[in-house]
Amino acid sequence: MKRDIIAGNWKMNNTQAGTKALIKDLAPLVADATCEVVICVPFTDIEVARKAIRGTNIKLGAQNVHWAPKGAFTGEISAEMLKELKVEYVIIGHSERRQYFGETDASVNARTKAALLGGLKVILCVGETLEERESGKTAEVVIRQINGGLEGIEKADLKKIVVAYEPVWAIGTGKTATAQEANDTIAIIRKAVRKLYGKTAANALRIQYGGSMNAKNASELMAMPEIDGGLIGGASLKAPDFAAVVHYNK
Ligand code: PGA
Repeated sequence: MKRDIIAGNWKMNNTQAGTKALIKDLAPLVADATCEVVICVPFTDIEVARKAIRGTNIKLGAQNVHWAPKGAFTGEISAEMLKELKVEYVIIGHSERRQYFGETDASVNARTKAALLGGLKVILCVGETLEERESGKTAEVVIRQINGGLEGIEKADLKKIVVAYEPVWAIGTGKTATAQEANDTIAIIRKAVRKLYGKTAANALRIQYGGSMNAKNASELMAMPEIDGGLIGGASLKAPDFAAVVHYNK
């Protein structure tokens, strides 16, 4: 049985004091969670978060990683650096990185390989823009992102990958994909993975939905057969809101 995974993507929010306080509030609220619970924090909060989650069921994630093991890459952070701080997961290819920082399928692929090589688990994000959805290109876009992002990655490593389907038009907008829309696109993603790795591996892959997922819509989304978790932005910044998502009823 695969275990659902609810991950918070804090984005560029919370200094160290805020991180400590939020985890202190959150930990008791999610202690009885049946799903895996992850928080992906800014680099500068990792050390504080690592200490604050000790003895809890909350796991630690980062929001990006560089593709090279080390070297002249000013401003970048390597997988080894994250691993040293006990980071377990790393988000790669978030649409904000694709949109604002020139992330491409090739760079997503290179970062994913570096993360896996460094012993990290990956939350690989895919998703179409509003324009792409409206012009009927959703399937084409997510299949391209999946094929590009996973290129050259061994089947054995797929176990260390979670895919997050995040329609760009639903992120931070309050506009959620309907549970059916999310389920249908995730089914397309899973089919693309099946083509690459076969049925068993594709069925075992956890695929999250992300995009304005919150306490109100989490249960309906999580009830869909293809949806194995959520990547939560805004609603992960308040302990009761995130805890409510973690306690979705499936
Ligand atoms: P949101 O963000 O929940 O605020 O829409 C989700 C994400 O970007 O991962």
